[in-house]
Amino acid sequence: MRIVVLVSGSGTNLQALLDAGPPEQTGYAVVAVSADRPGTGGEDRARERGIPTFVVRVADFATRAEWDAALTREVAAHTPELVVSAGFMKVLGGRFLDRFPTINTHPALLPSFPGTHGVRDALAHGVKVTGCTCHWVDGGVDTGPIIDQRAVRVEPGDTEGILHERIKVAERAMLVDVVRALAAERRAGLRPLD
Ligand code: GAR
Repeated sequence: MRIVVLVSGSGTNLQALLDAGPPEQTGYAVVAVSADRPGTGGEDRARERGIPTFVVRVADFATRAEWDAALTREVAAHTPELVVSAGFMKVLGGRFLDRFPTINTHPALLPSFPGTHGVRDALAHGVKVTGCTCHWVDGGVDTGPIIDQRAVRVEPGDTEGILHERIKVAERAMLVDVVRALAAERRAGLRPLD
């Protein structure tokens, strides 16, 4: 299964997908990585593996719809069967989502604490258990159907950074498991993605 990964940050989830094994074992191949700004760790990690990368910045377009069309065009050139939003901090547009089945990973147990500050918001609320969610992307902010979740305990003295790192350990394993499972289902014809 050909996948394109969208990143905005350090790209450790992308790294987990890359480290999971060769396509013959995992059932998927990362064929390109796209970032919403230059200089992300995610792009560096892709380049180290010789994977094509490209940047499509919202600020370079007059309207959000033009950005959506440009990102759709650039991603389509790599003919993905699945798009993985892995720490991509932009809301994808309708054209993009009509074209590509897309999953996202989020650092909280949705539907609690959607949005940009899932970890901070969970900590501020005082929850004792939080975690991560992998879900299909629809037009909303972290609203699509849930595929998998992992629970993570909040420990006394946790800061946002410490808690986020603990969540990300669970998140990386979850994401690899989900993508492998989707690839296997696709191979078996159980879940046509397009
Ligand atoms: C991940 O924890 C991901 O869930 C989060 O950004 C981190 C990216 O880490 N995404 C969001 O908060 C989106 N709302 P990474 O760049 O090391 O993979």
